[in-house]
Amino acid sequence: MHSLKQPPLLQLALDYIELPPALAMTQLVKDEVEVIEIGTPLTKASGMLSVSTVRELCPDKLVLADVKSPDCGGLEAKMCFDSGADWMTVLGAAPLDTVKLAVEEAQGRPDKEMFIELTGIKDILASATAWRDLGVERMVYHRGWDEGNASRSWDDRDLEVIGKLIDMGFQVSVAGGIELEKLSFFQDLDISVFIIGRSIYAASDPIDAARQFRAKINELWGSRVSAEHQLDAVA
Ligand code: 5RP
Ligand code: MG
Repeated sequence: MHSLKQPPLLQLALDYIELPPALAMTQLVKDEVEVIEIGTPLTKASGMLSVSTVRELCPDKLVLADVKSPDCGGLEAKMCFDSGADWMTVLGAAPLDTVKLAVEEAQGRPDKEMFIELTGIKDILASATAWRDLGVERMVYHRGWDEGNASRSWDDRDLEVIGKLIDMGFQVSVAGGIELEKLSFFQDLDISVFIIGRSIYAASDPIDAARQFRAKINELWGSRVSAEHQLDAVA
């Protein structure tokens, strides 16, 4: 088992179709999470205004714009970063030229990163080396929203592919209808970020739900943060 620098981060996905309730949820839960995601529907409903407004509300959080860019990767990365996002996503189905331009846009700026979003990609490992060679460092391993609703379950094949991506050096976020009880399914893997949408924002008490996710993540991964890294954190 590896030692981790830190337990996985907790990311709240704001999959809203109107900006005001998304901002209200951000205000409510922001202190409980490390990353705020402007969900794909919200980026379509309110565009870059949703990114810049969340950025203003959360100056000390990481902000991800989940645009799942299919084309114009450099341009869309520029739009997201100019609006205050730290992170943005490009669809795994996008051409390599699109990936390359988004990587270049991120690399040209301090502390900006792009993620490959793996929704619907059938043979992820077949493309992983090409993405890594272009400079991609992060991925979102995603059981798609519609797939999940149509009862595609997480299974051992998912764990195998995520493990191989991590072994290749990628930092992997995971998403897709993850409920609190599901966290332990991933506990042998060095997950970088847990992306949680409905299980937090649709809970009767979103603050409590976020705290429960944080506590469970710490319980499952905290013991793997090496003593050396704990000392670093204290210094
Ligand atoms: C949909 C997404 C969602 O943000 C992601 O699935 C997380 O939300 P939930 O936990 O509700 O599934 O990217 O395309
Ligand atoms: Mg999302």
